[in-house]
Amino acid sequence: MKSTSDASALSPSPSGVGRVEVRGLRHAFGSVDVLAGVDLTVAPGEFVAVLGPSGCGKSTLLKILAGLVEPTAGTATIDGTDVRGRLGLAAYQPQRDALLPWRRVVPNAALGAELAGVPAAAARAQAAELLVRFGLSGFERAWPAQLSGGMRQRVAIARTFLVGRAPLLLDEPFGALDALTRRDLYGWLEGVWEADDDRRSAVLVTHDVDEALTLADRVVVLSARPGRVVATEAVSFARPRRPELLARPDWGAARARLLAALAA
Ligand SMILES: Nc1ncnc2c1ncn2[C@@H]1O[C@H](COP(=O)(O)OP(=O)(O)OP(=O)(O)O)[C@@H](O)[C@H]1O
Ligand SMILES: [Mg+2]
Repeated sequence: MKSTSDASALSPSPSGVGRVEVRGLRHAFGSVDVLAGVDLTVAPGEFVAVLGPSGCGKSTLLKILAGLVEPTAGTATIDGTDVRGRLGLAAYQPQRDALLPWRRVVPNAALGAELAGVPAAAARAQAAELLVRFGLSGFERAWPAQLSGGMRQRVAIARTFLVGRAPLLLDEPFGALDALTRRDLYGWLEGVWEADDDRRSAVLVTHDVDEALTLADRVVVLSARPGRVVATEAVSFARPRRPELLARPDWGAARARLLAALAA
């Protein structure tokens, strides 16, 4: 593992979209320093996972990239455009994602595309198609309250995908789920992500080291608050990364390096 303050891109996808450049990014809420100079590059099409202790500023980092929080100092750009005050450059899924209880499954999933300007009928057609790929056929007309936690997460991820922008900014999208359901969802997420002709970059915030190693091309570890990048780990295991990999010594070594960086 390379310990560095600049997590430069290591494994760009051959064809991808959504370059993220973060330089010297600082943020304070009042007198509380939350981010202490973050440098991060995400190459077009690259999948980066961000690990870090609770409260270190992971969600704040994503909110800055989503244009929802103005950083105190430093710069963040998406495809060269400064994110300050620019809502809608990325496809952002907040940490506590709420499906709208009064919309059925298809219109919930279509919301992201509708907000991005796609006419409602076309957005719903796209949503219905994607939901099939997420294993939700037969539930198109269900209400969110009639779904399991894993199904709701799939609808939420479908909605984020349908925003049609890059990067995907996913804040603990599997946080509340059991291990088996999470495993299934990794497969769905990866399958849909890999199927794009122009693969989108992604920044996934997670507390789970194995999840980061399963999904990411590169894992970035933030320090305790105020967060800064203390380590990066390039992940080169072939995809899809099945659970058997977790028993391998090189997987265990990567996990141990990340856990050590988290505990430092
Ligand atoms: N709107 C806000 N106003 C004031 N303080 C905030 C605000 N949002 C976050 N904070 C503070 O900023 C710090 C970082 O919060 P953030 O949500 O980014 O952490 P996190 O790394 O995502 O944590 P977790 O892993 O628990 O989700 C925390 O101390 C939090 O209390
Ligand atoms: Mg958070």
